[in-house]
Amino acid sequence: MTTVLRVKDVVQEYPGVRALKGVSLELRAGQVLGLVGENGAGKSTLIRILGGIETPVRGEVAVQGRPRTFRGSADSQAAGISVVSQEFRLVSQLSIADNVFLGHESTTAGVVDGPGTRRRTAELLDQLGLDLDPDRPVSSLTVGDRQMVEIARALSREFDVLIMDEPTAALNGAEIGRLHGIVRRLANQGKAIIYVSHHLEEIFEICHDVAVLRDGELVAHAPTAELDEARLVEHMLGRKPQTLDRAAGSASDAAVRLEVRELRVPGVASPVSLTVRAGEILGLAGLVGSGRTELTRALFGDLVAMGGEVRIDGRPVRLRSSREAMRNGLFMLSEDRKGEGILPHLDVTENAMVSRDRSALPLRQRLLPVGSDERAQFTRLRDLMRIRVPHGRQLIGNLSGGNQQKVLLGRALLSGCSVLLLNEPTRGVDVGAKVDIYQLIRQLAESGVAVIVSSSDAPELAAIAERCAVYFAGRQVAELHGRDVTEENIVGASVGQTAEEITHA
Ligand SMILES: Nc1ncnc2c1ncn2[C@@H]1O[C@H](COP(=O)(O)OP(=O)(O)OP(=O)(O)O)[C@@H](O)[C@H]1O
Ligand SMILES: [Mg+2]
Repeated sequence: MTTVLRVKDVVQEYPGVRALKGVSLELRAGQVLGLVGENGAGKSTLIRILGGIETPVRGEVAVQGRPRTFRGSADSQAAGISVVSQEFRLVSQLSIADNVFLGHESTTAGVVDGPGTRRRTAELLDQLGLDLDPDRPVSSLTVGDRQMVEIARALSREFDVLIMDEPTAALNGAEIGRLHGIVRRLANQGKAIIYVSHHLEEIFEICHDVAVLRDGELVAHAPTAELDEARLVEHMLGRKPQTLDRAAGSASDAAVRLEVRELRVPGVASPVSLTVRAGEILGLAGLVGSGRTELTRALFGDLVAMGGEVRIDGRPVRLRSSREAMRNGLFMLSEDRKGEGILPHLDVTENAMVSRDRSALPLRQRLLPVGSDERAQFTRLRDLMRIRVPHGRQLIGNLSGGNQQKVLLGRALLSGCSVLLLNEPTRGVDVGAKVDIYQLIRQLAESGVAVIVSSSDAPELAAIAERCAVYFAGRQVAELHGRDVTEENIVGASVGQTAEEITHA
């Protein structure tokens, strides 16, 4: 097969960071190449260069044998490269259709063909298995649907090379399956594809070959058939990963931190009751449409629940807004990193410290300058979580996606709350750093915090939760304890298997 894309000795530098140290790669027509590496290894940097967003300090990019210099994304698109970037570039005020065709609208005599744009968008959404009205504003979509719109946008162009940077980080199982189908079909049609993911099982499922970046260098490049997951992880980390012991289980006589009685949550059919004690980690599992997301948001006052009773440390509280939840000792890590999470104009230390002892204050005062003790504390956090950042005054927007996620998780860990709600805590985090993060969450629980982890990642829940409530079709269908909190049981209950089917499986 012919070489479509050739990258030679590409070097990229930012102040204080050498993000790519001379990377060379080749991509053939019909090939799906997985690109993996730790958070901050340089994957997105390479993709920004191929997408024409950044110009490398050195090195060459050739498409169809011709060396190219991209002065912007339009040049890269004209060369036949289409990119799904890690950070969404959607305009939330515009409709889905306008976003999909933004910058390449079909026009007749200079007038945008509105009906045509809507029809082609509907076709693309259909291909992706999405039942969404093309006229809907993007602002009303969930994070997962926004990701799908980004993908539809990349597919709407003519391309020979498709590059996808963590396209499945925010997708559910069924959506991931459909995307894999599309990737396979495009490869069969002769398209060349670069696919970035931290879910290594995906790499083995759809990629012919895999390239590993570590610290800006290409350290391995091999057919996936010649590798297994353990070997791949070792290439990524440059060491064997740590292992995590099973949760010990906390004493059942510890103080109850959060108590929910008969809470009526919109989207959840039966009233919700749950108890979480100091030192305990409760998992919440459930697919899209199960009610898990609604319950998580209701617990944080983000979605107003009716009736029932909520007590934090024995005090009755009403959770009518997230401000109120925070004032009452409850803190949440949002799954919408870009929209609700990072404060892009502040540095990493300020981002990490925003919640600390300040959650009761009005927003303006919460943003007071951080003191030198807090700067020192950030340094400790950085080392513990392996946050790849040259110094604490770096703007958070300059960090890689996974490293931004670690800073936000740091914010939650430092919030000083009694009840911590973590929504998809390790989304976009590499396999090596996950283990460190699980250890930190556990330590936090051991220090007396009640932790709830809401996650679509069953192995994650199996690793850290000692109790797991599973939702299906708007109801809690299982509560797993201790040794029964396994990946198989969680997945089984999430698709509606009964307790009996689970134990006899
Ligand atoms: N604009 C910038 N200014 C300073 N440093 C930057 C900038 N963009 C990227 N970096 C740094 O370059 C390195 C590589 O980042 P990159 O985003 O390519 O990582 P990645 O492999 O995509 O990681 P992740 O898995 O977390 O998405 C990181 O250390 C990052 O902080
Ligand atoms: Mg990245």
